[in-house]
Amino acid sequence: MRTKLVAGNWKMHGNFGANLTLLTRIKEAATGFAPACAVCVPFPYLAQAQSVLAGSLVAWGAQDVSEHAQGAYTGEVSAAMLVEFACRYVLVGHSERRALFGESDAVVAAKFAAALKAGLTPILCVGETLAEREAGITGAVVTRQLDAVIANLGVAALQRAVLAYEPVWAIGTGRTASPQQAQEVHALIRARVAGCAANVAQNVQILYGGSVKASNAQELFAMPDIDGGLIGGASLVAEDFLAICRAA
Ligand code: 13P
Repeated sequence: MRTKLVAGNWKMHGNFGANLTLLTRIKEAATGFAPACAVCVPFPYLAQAQSVLAGSLVAWGAQDVSEHAQGAYTGEVSAAMLVEFACRYVLVGHSERRALFGESDAVVAAKFAAALKAGLTPILCVGETLAEREAGITGAVVTRQLDAVIANLGVAALQRAVLAYEPVWAIGTGRTASPQQAQEVHALIRARVAGCAANVAQNVQILYGGSVKASNAQELFAMPDIDGGLIGGASLVAEDFLAICRAA
Protein backbone atom coordinates (compact mmCIF):
# COMPACT_ATOMS: atom_id res chain seq x y z
CA MET A 1 0.00 0.00 0.00
CA ARG A 2 1.56 3.29 -1.10
CA THR A 3 1.48 6.22 1.29
CA LYS A 4 0.83 9.79 0.18
CA LEU A 5 3.45 12.54 0.01
CA VAL A 6 2.92 16.27 -0.34
CA ALA A 7 6.05 18.25 -1.15
CA GLY A 8 6.30 22.01 -1.44
CA ASN A 9 8.58 23.54 -4.06
CA TRP A 10 9.25 27.09 -2.95
CA LYS A 11 11.14 27.89 -6.16
CA MET A 12 13.04 31.19 -5.83
CA HIS A 13 10.92 32.63 -3.05
CA GLY A 14 11.46 33.38 0.61
CA ASN A 15 13.39 35.39 3.15
CA PHE A 16 14.41 34.56 6.70
CA GLY A 17 11.41 36.26 8.31
CA ALA A 18 8.72 34.82 6.07
CA ASN A 19 10.35 31.37 6.08
CA LEU A 20 10.38 31.24 9.86
CA THR A 21 6.65 31.96 10.06
CA LEU A 22 5.85 29.46 7.32
CA LEU A 23 8.08 26.63 8.57
CA THR A 24 7.00 27.04 12.18
CA ARG A 25 3.32 26.90 11.27
CA ILE A 26 3.76 23.83 9.06
CA LYS A 27 5.80 22.06 11.71
CA GLU A 28 3.22 22.75 14.43
CA ALA A 29 0.27 21.69 12.30
CA ALA A 30 2.01 18.61 10.90
CA THR A 31 2.05 16.77 14.20
CA GLY A 32 -1.18 14.94 13.34
CA PHE A 33 -0.46 14.14 9.69
CA ALA A 34 -0.60 10.66 8.30
CA PRO A 35 0.77 11.66 4.87
CA ALA A 36 4.39 12.58 4.67
CA CYS A 37 5.04 16.23 4.03
CA ALA A 38 8.19 17.98 2.84
CA VAL A 39 9.46 21.37 1.71
CA CYS A 40 12.09 21.94 -0.99
CA VAL A 41 13.66 25.30 -0.26
CA PRO A 42 16.32 27.46 -1.96
CA PHE A 43 19.88 26.43 -1.05
CA PRO A 44 20.59 29.41 1.26
CA TYR A 45 17.63 28.44 3.45
CA LEU A 46 18.52 24.79 3.99
CA ALA A 47 20.19 25.55 7.31
CA GLN A 48 17.10 27.42 8.46
CA ALA A 49 14.79 24.60 7.36
CA GLN A 50 17.01 22.12 9.17
CA SER A 51 17.07 24.15 12.36
CA VAL A 52 13.30 24.74 12.44
CA LEU A 53 12.15 21.31 11.22
CA ALA A 54 14.65 18.95 12.88
CA GLY A 55 12.79 16.47 15.05
CA SER A 56 9.43 17.24 13.39
CA LEU A 57 7.39 15.16 10.95
CA VAL A 58 8.23 17.54 8.11
CA ALA A 59 11.13 16.62 5.84
CA TRP A 60 13.12 19.11 3.80
CA GLY A 61 15.18 19.12 0.67
CA ALA A 62 16.61 21.12 -2.22
CA GLN A 63 15.39 21.99 -5.70
CA ASP A 64 18.44 20.98 -7.69
CA VAL A 65 21.79 19.23 -7.31
CA SER A 66 24.97 19.03 -9.32
CA GLU A 67 25.69 15.88 -11.27
CA HIS A 68 29.34 16.28 -10.22
CA ALA A 69 30.73 15.09 -6.89
CA GLN A 70 33.11 18.03 -6.42
CA GLY A 71 35.53 20.19 -8.29
CA ALA A 72 35.82 23.35 -10.34
CA TYR A 73 32.09 23.85 -10.99
CA THR A 74 31.43 27.44 -9.98
CA GLY A 75 27.96 27.96 -8.58
CA GLU A 76 27.12 24.28 -8.24
CA VAL A 77 26.01 22.44 -5.09
CA SER A 78 26.85 18.77 -4.61
CA ALA A 79 24.68 16.00 -3.22
CA ALA A 80 27.15 15.50 -0.36
CA MET A 81 26.63 19.14 0.62
CA LEU A 82 22.87 18.61 0.73
CA VAL A 83 23.41 15.61 2.98
CA GLU A 84 25.30 17.87 5.39
CA PHE A 85 22.05 19.79 5.85
CA ALA A 86 20.21 16.51 6.48
CA CYS A 87 18.11 16.88 3.34
CA ARG A 88 15.94 13.90 2.54
CA TYR A 89 14.71 14.99 -0.88
CA VAL A 90 16.00 16.79 -3.93
CA LEU A 91 14.05 17.73 -7.04
CA VAL A 92 15.69 16.72 -10.30
CA GLY A 93 14.58 17.64 -13.79
CA HIS A 94 12.00 20.23 -12.85
CA SER A 95 10.59 21.64 -16.09
CA GLU A 96 11.94 25.08 -15.21
CA ARG A 97 15.45 23.59 -15.01
CA ARG A 98 14.93 21.75 -18.28
CA ALA A 99 13.46 24.73 -20.15
CA LEU A 100 15.31 27.71 -18.67
CA PHE A 101 18.67 26.15 -17.82
CA GLY A 102 18.99 23.69 -20.67
CA GLU A 103 19.04 20.48 -18.64
CA SER A 104 18.88 17.53 -21.01
CA ASP A 105 17.50 14.10 -20.15
CA ALA A 106 21.11 12.92 -19.81
CA VAL A 107 22.00 15.67 -17.33
CA VAL A 108 18.85 14.98 -15.34
CA ALA A 109 19.73 11.27 -15.22
CA ALA A 110 23.23 12.15 -13.99
CA LYS A 111 21.80 14.41 -11.28
CA PHE A 112 19.43 11.64 -10.27
CA ALA A 113 22.38 9.26 -9.99
CA ALA A 114 24.40 11.74 -7.91
CA ALA A 115 21.50 12.21 -5.51
CA LEU A 116 20.94 8.49 -5.07
CA LYS A 117 24.61 7.80 -4.55
CA ALA A 118 24.69 10.30 -1.69
CA GLY A 119 21.64 8.71 -0.05
CA LEU A 120 19.16 11.43 -0.99
CA THR A 121 15.72 10.62 -2.38
CA PRO A 122 15.44 12.25 -5.80
CA ILE A 123 12.03 13.49 -6.91
CA LEU A 124 12.21 13.06 -10.69
CA CYS A 125 9.97 15.53 -12.50
CA VAL A 126 8.56 14.73 -15.92
CA GLY A 127 5.93 16.44 -18.03
CA GLU A 128 4.97 17.72 -21.45
CA THR A 129 4.53 21.25 -22.79
CA LEU A 130 1.24 22.46 -24.19
CA ALA A 131 2.56 22.11 -27.74
CA GLU A 132 3.57 18.52 -27.02
CA ARG A 133 0.14 17.73 -25.55
CA GLU A 134 -1.60 19.27 -28.52
CA ALA A 135 0.65 17.29 -30.84
CA GLY A 136 -0.52 14.12 -29.08
CA ILE A 137 2.96 13.15 -27.86
CA THR A 138 2.46 13.46 -24.08
CA GLY A 139 3.06 9.75 -23.54
CA ALA A 140 6.16 9.73 -25.71
CA VAL A 141 7.64 12.74 -23.89
CA VAL A 142 7.17 11.49 -20.33
CA THR A 143 8.29 8.01 -21.35
CA ARG A 144 11.47 9.43 -22.88
CA GLN A 145 12.18 11.45 -19.71
CA LEU A 146 11.58 8.43 -17.50
CA ASP A 147 13.49 6.01 -19.71
CA ALA A 148 16.59 8.23 -19.57
CA VAL A 149 16.84 7.45 -15.86
CA ILE A 150 15.88 3.79 -16.10
CA ALA A 151 18.38 3.21 -18.92
CA ASN A 152 21.14 4.85 -16.91
CA LEU A 153 20.52 3.32 -13.50
CA GLY A 154 18.16 0.42 -13.90
CA VAL A 155 14.56 0.28 -12.76
CA ALA A 156 15.54 -0.74 -9.22
CA ALA A 157 16.82 2.81 -8.68
CA LEU A 158 13.20 3.93 -8.60
CA GLN A 159 12.74 2.04 -5.35
CA ARG A 160 14.62 4.85 -3.66
CA ALA A 161 13.02 7.70 -5.60
CA VAL A 162 9.77 9.57 -6.10
CA LEU A 163 8.29 10.50 -9.48
CA ALA A 164 6.37 13.68 -10.19
CA TYR A 165 4.20 14.32 -13.23
CA GLU A 166 4.03 18.04 -13.85
CA PRO A 167 2.42 19.10 -17.13
CA VAL A 168 4.26 22.29 -18.05
CA TRP A 169 1.05 23.97 -19.19
CA ALA A 170 -0.41 23.55 -15.70
CA ILE A 171 2.52 25.02 -13.76
CA GLY A 172 1.82 28.44 -12.31
CA THR A 173 -0.98 28.99 -14.79
CA GLY A 174 -3.96 28.23 -12.62
CA ARG A 175 -4.90 25.66 -15.26
CA THR A 176 -4.82 22.33 -13.45
CA ALA A 177 -4.94 19.04 -15.30
CA SER A 178 -8.30 17.42 -14.66
CA PRO A 179 -8.12 14.42 -12.34
CA GLN A 180 -8.80 12.21 -15.37
CA GLN A 181 -6.08 13.85 -17.47
CA ALA A 182 -3.57 13.48 -14.65
CA GLN A 183 -4.62 9.92 -13.84
CA GLU A 184 -4.19 8.91 -17.47
CA VAL A 185 -0.54 10.00 -17.50
CA HIS A 186 0.15 8.64 -14.00
CA ALA A 187 -1.20 5.26 -15.10
CA LEU A 188 0.97 5.39 -18.21
CA ILE A 189 4.06 6.16 -16.11
CA ARG A 190 3.27 3.34 -13.71
CA ALA A 191 2.68 0.94 -16.59
CA ARG A 192 6.00 1.89 -18.09
CA VAL A 193 7.76 1.11 -14.81
CA ALA A 194 5.73 -2.10 -14.49
CA GLY A 195 7.03 -3.15 -17.87
CA CYS A 196 10.47 -3.27 -16.24
CA ALA A 197 9.54 -4.41 -12.73
CA ALA A 198 6.00 -4.88 -11.42
CA ASN A 199 6.93 -4.61 -7.75
CA VAL A 200 8.76 -1.32 -8.27
CA ALA A 201 5.76 0.08 -10.15
CA GLN A 202 3.44 -1.00 -7.36
CA ASN A 203 5.44 0.87 -4.73
CA VAL A 204 6.77 3.99 -6.40
CA GLN A 205 5.03 7.21 -5.40
CA ILE A 206 3.92 9.36 -8.33
CA LEU A 207 3.06 12.93 -7.36
CA TYR A 208 1.04 15.35 -9.44
CA GLY A 209 2.16 18.97 -9.77
CA GLY A 210 0.67 21.95 -11.56
CA SER A 211 -1.68 24.49 -9.98
CA VAL A 212 -2.67 22.20 -7.10
CA LYS A 213 -4.80 24.13 -4.64
CA ALA A 214 -6.78 23.32 -1.54
CA SER A 215 -9.90 23.35 -3.71
CA ASN A 216 -8.75 20.73 -6.24
CA ALA A 217 -6.33 18.61 -4.21
CA GLN A 218 -8.86 16.13 -2.90
CA GLU A 219 -10.23 15.05 -6.28
CA LEU A 220 -6.71 14.75 -7.72
CA PHE A 221 -5.43 12.71 -4.77
CA ALA A 222 -8.46 10.43 -4.97
CA MET A 223 -7.25 9.03 -8.30
CA PRO A 224 -5.75 5.55 -8.01
CA ASP A 225 -2.30 6.40 -9.38
CA ILE A 226 -1.87 9.85 -7.83
CA ASP A 227 0.09 9.50 -4.61
CA GLY A 228 0.22 13.12 -3.55
CA GLY A 229 1.38 16.43 -4.90
CA LEU A 230 4.29 18.67 -5.73
CA ILE A 231 3.08 22.12 -4.84
CA GLY A 232 4.48 25.43 -6.09
CA GLY A 233 2.62 28.66 -5.36
CA ALA A 234 0.28 27.22 -2.74
CA SER A 235 3.23 25.89 -0.71
CA LEU A 236 4.20 29.47 0.18
CA VAL A 237 1.00 30.05 2.14
CA ALA A 238 0.92 27.93 5.30
CA GLU A 239 -2.83 27.42 5.47
CA ASP A 240 -3.08 26.57 1.76
CA PHE A 241 -0.23 24.08 1.97
CA LEU A 242 -1.64 22.51 5.11
CA ALA A 243 -5.08 22.19 3.54
CA ILE A 244 -3.48 20.31 0.63
CA CYS A 245 -1.63 18.06 3.08
CA ARG A 246 -4.89 17.33 4.86
CA ALA A 247 -6.54 16.51 1.53
CA ALA A 248 -3.90 13.82 1.06
P1 13P B 1 2.39 25.60 -9.14
O1 13P B 1 1.77 24.79 -8.03
O2 13P B 1 2.69 27.01 -8.72
O3 13P B 1 1.63 25.49 -10.40
O4 13P B 1 3.84 24.95 -9.43
C1 13P B 1 3.94 23.58 -9.60
C2 13P B 1 5.37 23.22 -9.61
O5 13P B 1 6.12 23.56 -10.51
C3 13P B 1 5.89 22.46 -8.47
O6 13P B 1 7.15 21.96 -8.70
